[in-house]
Amino acid sequence: MTPKRLLSGIQTSGTPHIGNYFGMMQRMVDFQETSELFCFLANYHALTSVSDGDQLRKNTLTTACDFLALGIDPEKSVFWVQSDLPEVTELTWLLSNVTGMGLLERSHSYKDKVSKGITATHGLFSYPVLMSADILMFGSQVVPVGKDQKQHVEMTRDIAQRFNSTYGNTFVVPEPLIETATGLLPGIDGQKMSKSYNNTIDIFCDKATLAKKVMCIVTDSTPVDQPKDTENSTLFAIYSLFLEADQQKELVTRFQTPGTSYGALKKDLVEVIWNYFAPQRELRNELANNTDHVIKILKQGADKARSVAMPYLERARNAVGLNYTR
Ligand code: TRP
Repeated sequence: MTPKRLLSGIQTSGTPHIGNYFGMMQRMVDFQETSELFCFLANYHALTSVSDGDQLRKNTLTTACDFLALGIDPEKSVFWVQSDLPEVTELTWLLSNVTGMGLLERSHSYKDKVSKGITATHGLFSYPVLMSADILMFGSQVVPVGKDQKQHVEMTRDIAQRFNSTYGNTFVVPEPLIETATGLLPGIDGQKMSKSYNNTIDIFCDKATLAKKVMCIVTDSTPVDQPKDTENSTLFAIYSLFLEADQQKELVTRFQTPGTSYGALKKDLVEVIWNYFAPQRELRNELANNTDHVIKILKQGADKARSVAMPYLERARNAVGLNYTR
């Protein structure tokens, strides 16, 4: 059986945090073994929330270094920066004309972002159309995303079906692959870990910053000499991410043992996180010191991506009649 073609992207609106790691990046690295993986850095999408050019440049390279250090292998998968294939914006336009206003108006993500204070621009509103172009331009069969992105993939299916029924069969209609655990990843304040809530722990921050973040994880006011709750504990939830099943059981026991202080647990967690990413951190630092090499990898990735994308774009251009000389 030929492996399925999987595609997913990460917005470069910030630097990658452990929520991104457990929600998306680690999964991508694993998928390389079983699928034909397309993985890209969505910097056009990041423009909907980042308005500082230097910041966007920095985020893009940082995310590339992080991803490579965490195990994305450019030999096994196609790894590129979205804007190195500006043709995706042309496909966005073609898709825009089969995208109903009503479909976009129903977007939860748009409404959420506006309610959080992100400016309601046309870019933010048409975000799902660009995302559809990302997916459809590569004939992606499966799109692994977090729960919050499920609706975007459903919109992509609608848009693909609408295009196919209007112009003839052109695009693969993709399936979402939802990681159910992803939505539960809490930040240090107990809400979903997200850059826009300012509650993240970066994967590769320095140790002092890591310690500071971990010390800020919210806890309840159970006294030291009482057993502590694990079910609703943000500290327990974050800590468990880094443990195997048997170690998780031990952690439950520690929480339940009177005398364990949250301070002591947090101190240990700093070490656990620090050691968890130690091998990758070394590689990450090497990459960050050799950005020419990273850029070369990204450009080669863009070439590979282009060779797959162009036939899809060409078919779409022909289907709608832009090839007027024929
Ligand atoms: N919207 C996705 C997110 O915020 C990022 C993204 C952009 C994406 N284009 C995509 C994900 C295409 C999957 C497929 O996480």
